Amino acid sequence: MLFEVATEVANRVGGIYSVLKSKAPVTVAEYKERYTCIGPLNRKSAQVEVEELPVTNPHIRATLESMKSRGIEYIYGRWLIEGAPRVILFDIGSSVKFLNEWKSDLWSLAGVPTPESDIETNDAVMLGYLTAWFIGEFCCHETEKAVVLHCHEWLAGVAIPLCRQRKIDCTTIFTTHATLLGRYLCAGQVDFYNNLDKFDVDYEAGKRGIYHRYCIERSAAHAADVFTTVSHITAYESEHLLKRKPDGVLPNGLNVVKFQAVHEFQNLHAEKKEKINEFIRGHFYGQLDFSLENTLYFFIAGRYEFRNKGVDFFIEALARLNHKLKEANSKMTIVAFIIMPAATSSFTVDTLRGQAVIRQLESTIKDVQASMGKRLFEWCQAPNNSSNASQVQLPDLDDLLKPSDRVLLKRRMFALKRDTLPPIVTHNMVDDANDPILNEIRQCQLFNKKEDRVKIIFHPEFLNSSNPVLPLDYDEFVRGCHMGIFPSYYEPWGYTPAECTVMGVPSITTNLSGFGCYMEDLIENSEDYGIYIVDRRMKSVDESINQLVDQMFEFSEKTRRQRINQRNRVERLSDLLDWKRMGLEYVKARSLALKRAYPDQFKHGANPFEINSRKITRPLSVPGSPRDKYAGLMTPGDLGTLQETNDTDYIAWSLNRDNEEDVTLRGLSVA
Ligand code: UDP
Ligand code: G6P
Ligand code: GLC
Repeated sequence: MLFEVATEVANRVGGIYSVLKSKAPVTVAEYKERYTCIGPLNRKSAQVEVEELPVTNPHIRATLESMKSRGIEYIYGRWLIEGAPRVILFDIGSSVKFLNEWKSDLWSLAGVPTPESDIETNDAVMLGYLTAWFIGEFCCHETEKAVVLHCHEWLAGVAIPLCRQRKIDCTTIFTTHATLLGRYLCAGQVDFYNNLDKFDVDYEAGKRGIYHRYCIERSAAHAADVFTTVSHITAYESEHLLKRKPDGVLPNGLNVVKFQAVHEFQNLHAEKKEKINEFIRGHFYGQLDFSLENTLYFFIAGRYEFRNKGVDFFIEALARLNHKLKEANSKMTIVAFIIMPAATSSFTVDTLRGQAVIRQLESTIKDVQASMGKRLFEWCQAPNNSSNASQVQLPDLDDLLKPSDRVLLKRRMFALKRDTLPPIVTHNMVDDANDPILNEIRQCQLFNKKEDRVKIIFHPEFLNSSNPVLPLDYDEFVRGCHMGIFPSYYEPWGYTPAECTVMGVPSITTNLSGFGCYMEDLIENSEDYGIYIVDRRMKSVDESINQLVDQMFEFSEKTRRQRINQRNRVERLSDLLDWKRMGLEYVKARSLALKRAYPDQFKHGANPFEINSRKITRPLSVPGSPRDKYAGLMTPGDLGTLQETNDTDYIAWSLNRDNEEDVTLRGLSVA
């Protein structure tokens, strides 16, 4: 029986939701009804993501009923995603009455302090105790099948030390998708990667007020039977910051949907781009003096982490690109979107007005067009105008366009006049004056001026199709764009460029992101395949920004034909990211966890818990596909370290102790 615990089960926050959702089809295929996700109940998202069902498994039912009798509320049902895994969502609020008791237990059991005021930690404690309670009772009922408890991230990690302390008959895996200290240290002005082995972790955590959270994360990492993370760069970081070398790397995959014909995803690009064009017409109303035919859409998206996600780099590079395009007299215009949620009160009046005036103009033109068409039809049929084939008359514009139409059109055109520049942000920001993104844009003076070849639009909210100004879901928006740009400084994996890849959209990432390193290791000349990697390890900040500018500039010089070809090549990489391939690492992790918990059962070599001994084959090679540098190796894990005796070094992530001058990480860029 497999239970996977995370706070993002049926609740989108960031990348962990993407992991669980996209992985569901392969995990369900392997475990069927023996797979259940556990998470905290968020009623708003559960309402749309989960269909409630009666509990069929008698042991799960008995356990949940017993918990209910002690006042614990939950929802059991089917997560409405492909694969439809079963979920248990605990109503954390219903366990508040136990909170103080649990907090003091955690202190005496594991020495983890939990301050009163940290709501996130309180929630983590409650989720952890509820999970351990559930698993403990469940294991008493279920005496035949082995139980694997797989927890993601510190927020879901409390259950792991509890299971160990209580000697519950299960095996545990802890996967961290980042380290708390890593995120915090990188967000400040710290030379992170050069000092990873030197940080006084307790001191640094204490200084940032996250000592207790750090304790939870570290205890989960140490108490788990198997400890894993999502990339080599984060494995290396975890070893130094959490003081346990991960047993392996579980790189993130995606659920790759292949189109029957290659041109289908290209058509989708054209279709979604037209939607973005509509938004642009409204946003730049009255000042649309650039041709949309020669416009490229770039974007950055994700949680608002200014430095970690490289927004600082992005804006500075855009300013330099603007200058470079002007110098080169380029006919291209770049519209750069920043999609990152921040505190806002509403859309700005100007943003709403822009869309409204353009829609009005459009609908007026449709009406005028219809009445002109009718008049033209009547004119052409009139005997006076068409009786003599050699002398047909065509109407004047005045005959077709009536004075009332002219007045209406003029009114609509007057409404398009504006003396302000098209806005750089679509919403009213709660803290406009101190917003780091806005301030960086202001400092670089990217104000959407007429002469600017780079225009910028900050949309401080995730996208969805009911958005009144840009009515597209995030994946539709990505398809409509030309390039995703993610120059992250701290990025354990980075789903955003991976998602671009499977949608056939070129992207720029860095060699400080798990995804960037993974692709760099796997394919030669990744730029040919639309995966551009900025070197943020060995270059200075200035050099890295210039590299990013050159990559964007080079892309802007491509012809349409070249862009189409490149999109085809990018899309072909998607097999490399398919869970059908990546998921094998999860299989290995579970197998290792079982082996560690039940070594006696493995005495005779074979895995007694193996359910499907199916092998996942390497994807069939397509002519013209990228060359896999590791051709001959079996799975992504061969790049990883998932094995019983863990003495392998991380690829490209080791410190050379003997010769400090040759330290691999020397020269890392620090902003
Ligand atoms: N995302 C989204 N809507 C948006 C922008 C981003 O749902 O408008 C998603 C995106 O699809 C991706 C996730 O946010 O799966 C971000 O994951 P990533 O691993 O890049 O970063 P994290 O937030 O986990 O650090
Ligand atoms: C797709 C469509 C083409 C369209 C092109 C635009 O390939 O199939 O019909 O011309 O997109 O590409 P662009 O890079 O200019 O947006
Ligand atoms: C984390 C990381 C991100 C990663 C995601 C899924 O939130 O910040 O880089 O892609 O988890 O593993």
